[in-house]
Amino acid sequence: GLKIVTIGGGSSYTPELIEGFIKRYSELPVKELWLVDIEAGKEKLEIVGNLAKRMIKKSGLDIKINLTLDRREALKGADFVTTQLRVGLLDARIKDESIPLSHGVIGQETNGAGGLFKALRTVPVILDIIKDIEELCPNAWLINFTNPTGVITEAVFKYTNFKNYVGLCNVPIGVRNGVAKLFEVESDRIYMDFAGLNHMVYGLNVILDGKDVTKEAIDKFVSSKISMENIKAIDFNPEFVKALGAIPCPYHRYYYKTKEMLDEELEEFKKGKARGQVVKELEGQLFELYKDESLDIKPPQLEKRGGAYYSDAACNLISSIYNDKRDIQVVNTLNNGAIRNFRDDQAVEVSSVITSEGPKPLSMGYLPQCTDGLVSDIKSFEILAAKAAVYGDYESALLALCINPLIPSDDLAKTILDEMLEAHKEYLPQF
Ligand code: G6P
Ligand code: MN
Repeated sequence: GLKIVTIGGGSSYTPELIEGFIKRYSELPVKELWLVDIEAGKEKLEIVGNLAKRMIKKSGLDIKINLTLDRREALKGADFVTTQLRVGLLDARIKDESIPLSHGVIGQETNGAGGLFKALRTVPVILDIIKDIEELCPNAWLINFTNPTGVITEAVFKYTNFKNYVGLCNVPIGVRNGVAKLFEVESDRIYMDFAGLNHMVYGLNVILDGKDVTKEAIDKFVSSKISMENIKAIDFNPEFVKALGAIPCPYHRYYYKTKEMLDEELEEFKKGKARGQVVKELEGQLFELYKDESLDIKPPQLEKRGGAYYSDAACNLISSIYNDKRDIQVVNTLNNGAIRNFRDDQAVEVSSVITSEGPKPLSMGYLPQCTDGLVSDIKSFEILAAKAAVYGDYESALLALCINPLIPSDDLAKTILDEMLEAHKEYLPQF
């Protein structure tokens, strides 16, 4: 049986994961699941951990759930480690969103200034976890769901020697499910190639039952409302998407519709409803539900979160590594020549064959040429963010913000940087 360790186990998302393991038990026999959290997350860990135990009990399966604040104890002999932590909890996220917005620029937890600061807080923690894994369970796979996944993946491959790492996001699954809906078919009849960067991934060839339907998919897509719970589904310009010839992801709205997204965000922000504030409320409601001892399923309210269905991504990936399935899934990994826009040693999000030795990215050629500038700029941003996070390097952090397309001024970049460094200093010991 397998030993799985989930760091950030007190997250409201944990029932997703439990449901995923229950559904796949016959192919993925989990024997022990350790949910790990920190002192500040102790109460949440208890509540969600007890719900997890009830879910397992109901399933009748022989999976043992352990709750602990001792990460090193949990990691001993693990086969898979998943990370879903949030350094500084939702209050830090609210700052990531609010401070940029108070300066009139996009405030988003994985893009622009918010994305940089989430990286600065998180990368050192993930690198610490990797040190523990190397010592306590060196053959384990680390499946990272923590944002910003793109920067974290970049940092892991550049600044550690650890190879058993995969970064994950539910965006590609969400887009594929959305496209399947447009064709009114089950998702497994749709195949799509995905290539790009995390939260900047493009859907390329769309295949329905073996037939190329990319053009129809784009035609349907432009009059659809495909998005995720956390991103307002403001329409892309239909002629733009048709000319692009690829399916943008929901996060592309921040770049291709910056003005509309900013207006929308500012309006919500003025009402005290930045996404982090909305999520805080949702979380409060979720944990109230979780406390109810008669609840023994994943409550449908969890689907209000942007990460809904992430367990499909996580559990499918773990199962394919474990079973050497060699199916195709979209992951964040080293490019190794897959997308010609990027160097071999850069992290990308790309369709890959999943083997027991990890993901083997599929060859994608070049992205549509009109995306060259944007993806290469964001890649530079990610590289600078990773460097700033690892070394506490002010210059890299400043450069990252000055070159980011969501921040329209170098002076403003510095103002925001300084204000955010101060606001988050408790979680930025490297600076
Ligand atoms: C999407 C992204 C995740 C992100 C989530 C935010 O699912 O892929 O990376 O964490 O949205 O959702 P939330 O409900 O926290 O705003
Ligand atoms: Mn994501």
